[in-house]
Amino acid sequence: MMRIDIISAVPELLKGPLDHSIVGRARKSRKVEIVVHDLRTYSTDKHGKVDDYPFGGGAGLVMTTQPVFDCIGSLRQEREYQAVIFPTPDAPILDQPTVNKLSLHENIIILCGHYKGIDQRIRDELVTLEISIGDYVLSGGELPAMILVDSMVRLLPGVLGDAESALDDSFQDGLLSAPVYTRPASFRGLGVPEILTSGNHERIRLWREEKALERTREVRPDLYRNFINKK
Ligand code: ADE
Repeated sequence: MMRIDIISAVPELLKGPLDHSIVGRARKSRKVEIVVHDLRTYSTDKHGKVDDYPFGGGAGLVMTTQPVFDCIGSLRQEREYQAVIFPTPDAPILDQPTVNKLSLHENIIILCGHYKGIDQRIRDELVTLEISIGDYVLSGGELPAMILVDSMVRLLPGVLGDAESALDDSFQDGLLSAPVYTRPASFRGLGVPEILTSGNHERIRLWREEKALERTREVRPDLYRNFINKK
């Protein structure tokens, strides 16, 4: 079973997303083990301090070395980790091939930074992979950590049923998905494409392929070019 350890100074932020829906179910049915660690409990400071002013001045506080080194050190004594991931905006952007690779790991640590950043020595000595979830800045690594967890967990064996297979996802073939519809076939005068109710599976497959190409070309010309060039 895959094990994910998440280290955070604000573990309250992680509660909801880990306890419900697909990730919550995957945990309950023991397809994944997710353990959240409150960084403050590792601080040797009597007030549980985990940050301090930056050397050289500047705005904001920086996460200190001691609690993080102690926390990751004690986890590493228990088991071997294939990756220590630090979500940060100054890193390569997460994509589906990266998620696919990460989901094959046995044990990973996700270290959530907060405030202005974390002491560079943590990044140099402990972090093995830095990932951004996009070109915008969030106030901490907790939401990016949840995005990483959700994207990995849904790929684990037995987490999604056949009907919801991740192989059909947008991005798994480098294209966005075709539009989908469900009952009723007519809603306030709005119909659904006739082909989808035709029962002709080959024509439906071709229609979906065409719509996927169309949608990708319109909204993500960068993905479209990659797809065409790879063919
Ligand atoms: N922390 C703050 N902003 C982030 C981003 N865009 N990606 C990953 N981690 C972050």
